[in-house]
Amino acid sequence: MDRYSQPFCVEKKWNQVLEWNFTEPNIKWFSGAQLNITENCLDRHLPERAHVPALIWEPNNPHESFRSLSYQNLFEQVCRFANVLKNNGVKKGDRVCIYMGMIPELSIAALACARIGAIHSIIFGGFSARSISDRVQDAHAEFIITCDGAYRGAKDIPLKKTVDEAIQNLAFVKKVFVYQRTNSPVFMQKGRDVWWSEELKKADAICPAETMNAEDILFILYTSGSTGKPKGVVHTCAGYMVWTHYTFVNVFQYQIGQTYFCTADIGWITGHSYIVYGPLSAGATSLMFEGIPTYPDAGRFWDIVAKHQVHILYTAPTAIRSLMAHGLDFVKDKNLSSLQVLGSVGEPINEEAWHWLYKNIGKEKCPIVDTWWQTETGGIMISNLAGITPQKPSYATLPLPGVQLCLVDENGNEIKEAHVSGNLCIKFPWPGMIRTTYNDHERCRQTYFSTYKNAYFTGDGCLRDEQGFYRITGRVDDVLNVSGHRIGTAEVENAINACKGIIESAVVGYPHEIKGQGIYAYVVCEENHETTELQKNIHASVSEMIGAIAKPDKIQWVKNLPKTRSGKIMRRILRKIAENELSNLGDTSTLLDPAVVDDIIKTKI
Ligand code: WT7
Repeated sequence: MDRYSQPFCVEKKWNQVLEWNFTEPNIKWFSGAQLNITENCLDRHLPERAHVPALIWEPNNPHESFRSLSYQNLFEQVCRFANVLKNNGVKKGDRVCIYMGMIPELSIAALACARIGAIHSIIFGGFSARSISDRVQDAHAEFIITCDGAYRGAKDIPLKKTVDEAIQNLAFVKKVFVYQRTNSPVFMQKGRDVWWSEELKKADAICPAETMNAEDILFILYTSGSTGKPKGVVHTCAGYMVWTHYTFVNVFQYQIGQTYFCTADIGWITGHSYIVYGPLSAGATSLMFEGIPTYPDAGRFWDIVAKHQVHILYTAPTAIRSLMAHGLDFVKDKNLSSLQVLGSVGEPINEEAWHWLYKNIGKEKCPIVDTWWQTETGGIMISNLAGITPQKPSYATLPLPGVQLCLVDENGNEIKEAHVSGNLCIKFPWPGMIRTTYNDHERCRQTYFSTYKNAYFTGDGCLRDEQGFYRITGRVDDVLNVSGHRIGTAEVENAINACKGIIESAVVGYPHEIKGQGIYAYVVCEENHETTELQKNIHASVSEMIGAIAKPDKIQWVKNLPKTRSGKIMRRILRKIAENELSNLGDTSTLLDPAVVDDIIKTKI
C-alpha cells in the first residue's frame, strides 16, 4: 500500500510562509505564491492516474445505476463547464451561488468556479428561498447554478422553484444555470435562465486554470452564529488546499487505491473539505451519495459499503444514532469486510454510539477517528490519526501537529493544568483558518478574536483529561447543533416572532436522543390565541425563513420570559428547565420577577 507523495504544483513559489496578527485579524499564508487548486485536484493526477475513479456517485434510488468519473473524465467535465461559465460572463472574483442536490455536477460546478477564479458560495439544498435570497444578496452573486429538482429519500425537492422565489426581486442576478436531474417541468426566464446541457454543447473542452494568488478567495460558506444573520466564512486558495490535503491524508491515513465515503452533504463544510478538495487533492476515490441513510431502509449505508467496497467511512453521530435506533437487523447480513477506518464529525459522539459503531460496523478492527473542527477552521483540528495514535471514546483526543490549542477560564486566563475544563481557543494560525467574514471584517474580529486577547475563540467548551486528551463538551454560545447542523437561536427566534399573534420567544437547546440537540422554544403569545393554529404557523414560518431543519421540536407557551432588570432574557435558566435540571437552576435573584420561573416549570412539557 502506498501513501500519496506527489508535490503540489504551484505556478510561483511563496516568499513568506506566514504573516499574522490576531488583533485585526490579518492572516496570510504563502504570500507571493500563485496556483490554482483545481490543478492540484485534477491536472496533477494526469496522465498517471487518468483512469482512477475520482468520484463514485451512488444515486438516491438503489435501482438507478451508479456513476464513476475517472480523473480524466472529471477534469474534462470541469474544464467544459468552466467554459460554460466564462461564455455566460462569469469572471474571476465573481460570486456564484450553487444550490443543487448531491450529484457529481455539484462538485463539477464548484471546481469549475475554482478553475476560473470565481468564488463559489454553496447553499445546502435544505435551505429555504429566504435563506437563499439573503445569501445571494450578501455576496451580491450575479450567477446561480441549480437543478430542476433533487431526490432525497422518497421526496422530490423542487430546487429551481425555490431559486425562482428567492430571486424574484433580485434584478442583479444575470444568469441561472439549470442542470436537469429529475426532469420535472420548471419555469425558465428568458434571457436569464439557461440549461446546463445546452450550454455544454457550445463549450470548448480546454480551459486553462486561472492563476490565483495564495490569498485570493476560493469560496464563501455561510454559517450561523449567535446573531440572527448568518455570516459568510471566507476561505482562501493556498492555505485551504494545504490544510484539507494534509488533514485528509494523515487523519484517515489514506492509502492510494482506497475508496473513501464521506456521508456529509457538500452544502456543509465537511462536504467541501472531505468530499471535494481534500480527497481530490490526494488523488483519492471519493464516493458521494445522493440520498439519506434510511432510504429505502436503514441498511442503505451498509449496502453502499458492500457494493462499492468502501475502505474508509466518514459519518456523523446523528446518523449513527438514528441507524442504531432501527436495530441490528439492518446490519447483520451486510458484508462490511472492506472497511478499515471509520470517522465521526459534527458533534460530540456519545459513548454508546461510539461503541455501537466500533463493534457492529468496524467489527472491533477499524480505528475510529473523532474529528473536531468547524466551518471556520477549514479542516480537521483535533483528532486521533487512524491506527497511529490512541483513540478514546467520546474524545477527539489530540490536536494535529501544528495546531496550538489552549483552554481559558471565564476571566480569559489560560488554564495550563491537565484534567480541567474551559473554553477552547487556538493560539496560533493554521493554513485552513477563516480569513474574514465576507464584506464585514469587523464581524470576523468581533466574533472570533475579541473575546480573548491573541486567540481565536471556537465557541466550544472543552475538557482536557489527565493524559492531555481533549473532549469537546458543546457550544457555549447561543448556537445549537441539531443533527450536526449549526443553527443560531436568534435566527429561530426571529422566525417565530415574525408570526402574527406572537409577542416574544426564547429558543434553547436540549438533549435529544437522535439529533444530539433538539430545539426548545418558549413562546409568549397574545391572549385568546388558538395555540395549535399558532404552532402550525410557527413551523411554517421557520421553514419559510430558514428551512425545515430549524423547526422547534418543542414549543412551550409561557406567560412571560425570565428577564434581568435590564431586560435580558436569562437563557441559562431556560436551558436548565429544558434539560430538566430543575434542582439546579442557579442564582435567580437578579431576575425582575422570579415567580416567572415557577410558572414556566409548572407548565413544562
Ligand atoms: C461545531 C462546528 C466540522 C464540520 C461539521 C460541523 C461541533 C464538530 C465535533 C466533534 C464534538 C464537534 C462543535 C463545533 N463539532 N465536530 N468531533 N466533537 N463537537 O461544522 O457547522 O461549523 O459546526 O460542531 O461544536 O464548534 P460547523
